[in-house]
Amino acid sequence: MSKRILLTGGAGYIGSHTYVALIEAGYEVVILDNFANAARRVPGALEQITGVPVTLFEHDVLDRAALDAIFAEHAFDAVVHFAALKAVGESVEKPLEYMQCNLGGLVTLMQAMAQAGVFNLVFSSSAAVYGVPESLPIPETAPLSHANPYGYTKLVGEEIIAQTCASDPRWSVGVLRYFNPVGAHTSGLIGEDPKDIPNNLMPYIAKVAAGELPQLSVFGDDYATPDGTGVRDFIHVCDLADGHVLSLNALFRDGLGHTVNLGTGQGYSVLELLGAYSKACGRDLPFQFTPRRPGDPAASYADPGLAKDVLGFKATRGLEEMCTSSWHWINTCAADN
Ligand code: WQD
Repeated sequence: MSKRILLTGGAGYIGSHTYVALIEAGYEVVILDNFANAARRVPGALEQITGVPVTLFEHDVLDRAALDAIFAEHAFDAVVHFAALKAVGESVEKPLEYMQCNLGGLVTLMQAMAQAGVFNLVFSSSAAVYGVPESLPIPETAPLSHANPYGYTKLVGEEIIAQTCASDPRWSVGVLRYFNPVGAHTSGLIGEDPKDIPNNLMPYIAKVAAGELPQLSVFGDDYATPDGTGVRDFIHVCDLADGHVLSLNALFRDGLGHTVNLGTGQGYSVLELLGAYSKACGRDLPFQFTPRRPGDPAASYADPGLAKDVLGFKATRGLEEMCTSSWHWINTCAADN
């Protein structure tokens, strides 16, 4: 009997890729999404990729009555919780909206889960909980802090989960700290599809490559890094999705919670990513150096050792595949529009 998983935010960028990985791993999956940050074409694309009809409920994770009805209709074995706001810059402008959605949504979900007797949870956290790292690579034992309201909601979300688990041993939670998710499914049918001008590096570069934006602004060229530009741990979104499957497998196998980094352990600079994308799209992409973005650490990349030990997780897709898969998605998606 396949285990049944509720995927909140399952029509979003990471959620949709995790949906595919879970179906391919033999799980049954139900999606909850309010489409605040997801395209209406995604469920159809998921059916095309998996060959399986999509079961989706369009509700907000803050809607407790809707959650109770969904849990009454489906006997879930676990929940993977992606539904949250995730733009760092926006979180500075709208902190209360981020607290309500990211923290209120988590509490509402966990209350509905407990009432339904579902105590297995995978939580989407972020390397943002490390703030500006004191040393590199970053282990899970590194000091935690927050540089912005978005990072704060992830830090407090982890604390809410820790307090809940301490008070009720029925809970088993996998906390996954994502580094920098990029790339797209090989089909080109799903990928990162920001509605506005992207805050993040890879989708911005993709829009420059597509001719939708004139050039990339490189935020700072005077960091203490090999080429002076920021260094990040870019991880292919399909590797990230595989990490969620392994996290669920571990919860069902051992009944033990875990908090692990999902990164490659390899840092690449802004200019290195730009160069790799230029190669993928076949032309040198224009850029300019601009002042640093406040709050940005010079470098951030994971110590991936604990995820390997606890989950057997190791990222397999390299920088070239991250860029070629993104460019394939841009061309496939653009062909649709
Ligand atoms: C990467 C590098 C920028 C844009 C954040 C969140 C993290 C996760 C990913 C949600 C930095 C530089 C960027 C641009 C640039 N979000 N840059 N020009 O800040 O590492 O991480 O997004 O899960 O939780 O903290 O990602 O892509 O914004 O920046 O030069 O137009 O690219 O300075 O060095 P970041 P990013």
